[in-house]
Amino acid sequence: MNDEFATLKNIKDATFSEEQSTSDDVKGRYEPRRYPQVIKYMGSKAAILGFIGSELAKVHADGRPFVDLFAGACAISGGFGHVSKVISNDIQEYSAVISSIYLKRAEKIGNFDIIALASKIAGANLALIPKGTQYTPNTTLDEFNKVERANRDLLNRDFSHSHHLFTRVYSGTWWSAEQCVWIDAIREVLDDLLAKGKIEKSDFDFGLTCLMHSMAYTSQGTGHFAQYRDAKNIKGMADINKYRNASLPSIFKRKFDLLLEWNLQNVIDLEHEMVSMDYRDCLASIPPSVVYADPPYAFVHYSRFYHAMETIVKYDYPEIQHVGNKIVKGRYRVGRHQSPFCIKTKVKQAFIDLFDGVKKSDSDLLLSYSNTGMINIDELMQLAEATFGETYDVWFDHMSHTHMTMGRREDRSRTVRESLIMARKK
Ligand SMILES: C[S@@+](CC[C@H](N)C(=O)[O-])C[C@H]1O[C@@H](n2cnc3c(N)ncnc32)[C@H](O)[C@@H]1O
Repeated sequence: MNDEFATLKNIKDATFSEEQSTSDDVKGRYEPRRYPQVIKYMGSKAAILGFIGSELAKVHADGRPFVDLFAGACAISGGFGHVSKVISNDIQEYSAVISSIYLKRAEKIGNFDIIALASKIAGANLALIPKGTQYTPNTTLDEFNKVERANRDLLNRDFSHSHHLFTRVYSGTWWSAEQCVWIDAIREVLDDLLAKGKIEKSDFDFGLTCLMHSMAYTSQGTGHFAQYRDAKNIKGMADINKYRNASLPSIFKRKFDLLLEWNLQNVIDLEHEMVSMDYRDCLASIPPSVVYADPPYAFVHYSRFYHAMETIVKYDYPEIQHVGNKIVKGRYRVGRHQSPFCIKTKVKQAFIDLFDGVKKSDSDLLLSYSNTGMINIDELMQLAEATFGETYDVWFDHMSHTHMTMGRREDRSRTVRESLIMARKK
């Protein structure tokens, strides 16, 4: 089991980001706002926004946008979307959808009861699901695994209704068939409202984000979608069964109400933009900005860990990866993105391209650094200095003791120090 996997298991359902601590000089303008988080995300920077705010204050010039170049679950949009225009980018499309709830107002979706609309569709589609796929609270391991297999067998069935992607491909994996029917039904309602012009794109993305949240918190997995768990013993079965019986529509509804209240009270549209590009293309498209870069620092690809989020957003009935003629257990999309930051032979050039792109756009840079063995800090600093050259000041900052102790209690014993490589045009 790799370290990231272990760390991810410890991520709690933080409904709201922590109260963030910033030093006195940053109080006010660069103080991160509290915002509701939506999915558990590997490498999320939600817990260190106070530190990032202090550093932003050192380089930000009025009128320049913040570019969150590897936005992930969008801590920057959540924390700083009220301070300045944000351009939120990530190669994964789900990230642009999540950032929308922090950056764009969802004015119309509150006019609709999404769950009431979806329940009509789900009711009809549940009737098409064969007997033997229902989970019961008290069961033996053998019976439970029989139900699991019956759920997974839906992969071999033909469905003729318009929205059946999750029901067919993911029943009995991270979700039960019943939960998958709900996932498809909610997506169908959102598609229909958008197609009929009853809601705007921001409302659609808002609904989709609530759906991602309810998928994340009913999943029987460990916080991502690299592998689902098998019930090997009674204890494992009991834990998986808790998730199998969780109500996806209830979790959706709860988050929907909470997020909508936050969105309408907090979101100011400062002409924010949400994009889904490779970081090099994004850098080639931006005006002079402050770029916050938080690239992956491990061998594992986000496109594998979060493929199910990408698929609910694209909803494109993707081809699923096979080995030989057998479908892979994780049911990954074919043609997933392979990040150069996660490939040992490409990582150095990936950073050179990053520094070069920032320089060519006349921007300043805050680069989060994690010491995970992909590239060491001395080498990275040398690359930064060589690429930025004489016209930039390049330096390295650690998270201060104050930031560490004022964070969550468990942060007090953190051994990994958060650090940033900074580059500012002279
Ligand atoms: C460490 S995570 C970012 C976490 C984020 N700062 C947060 O707080 O949620 C790194 C992100 O880089 C994205 N990524 C990987 N390769 C990329 C590329 N070539 N271009 C743009 N984004 C990429 C991944 O999809 C992932 O979301």
